[in-house]
Amino acid sequence: MPRYYLVMDSQSVQMARDSLSRCSKNEKFLDRFYELFMASSDEIREKFEQTDFERQKRVLSDSLFLILAAAGTTRGFAHVQLEKLAKRHSRDGLDIKPEWYEPWLDNLLKTVAEFDPEYSDEIDIAWRESVKGSIEVLIAGY
Ligand code: HEM
Repeated sequence: MPRYYLVMDSQSVQMARDSLSRCSKNEKFLDRFYELFMASSDEIREKFEQTDFERQKRVLSDSLFLILAAAGTTRGFAHVQLEKLAKRHSRDGLDIKPEWYEPWLDNLLKTVAEFDPEYSDEIDIAWRESVKGSIEVLIAGY
């Protein structure tokens, strides 16, 4: 697996991590994200019909910290976990279509804009740059 694309400008990654920490202080952060994300398409909403959201919010929160950990490094635990996540989302697993990652990211950033009191265009860009590599790994694993 090529690793170069996960090496990020560490300042951007740190900015995104700090933003995630601020958002995560509010327990409604991921409720709001799933509300917006599921409203974005019927197909996406149908994927979550059987989902236990209390569990889903916990695992998503962990994986957000995980992908920001992966963004700051070139190998190790976060990368191994990311490959597992890619396999789980692949066509043989959850069958998550590559085109759904764009609304995923856009709605995540919409939520960040609502919950991060320090939100700015710079923070938005830092997030997008930091998460891009992990999304590429998930899409490549489809
Ligand atoms: C970088 C983006 C994403 C991350 C970090 C992420 C993270 C996760 C994690 C950690 C899980 C739990 C896996 C497990 O149970 O072992 C999960 C499950 C799931 N994800 Fe994602 N995901 C992403 C993108 C998406 C997208 C774009 C969709 C589109 C619909 C999606 C739909 C689902 C569904 C349906 C489940 C299973 C929920 C259930 O257990 O009922 N994910 N995701």
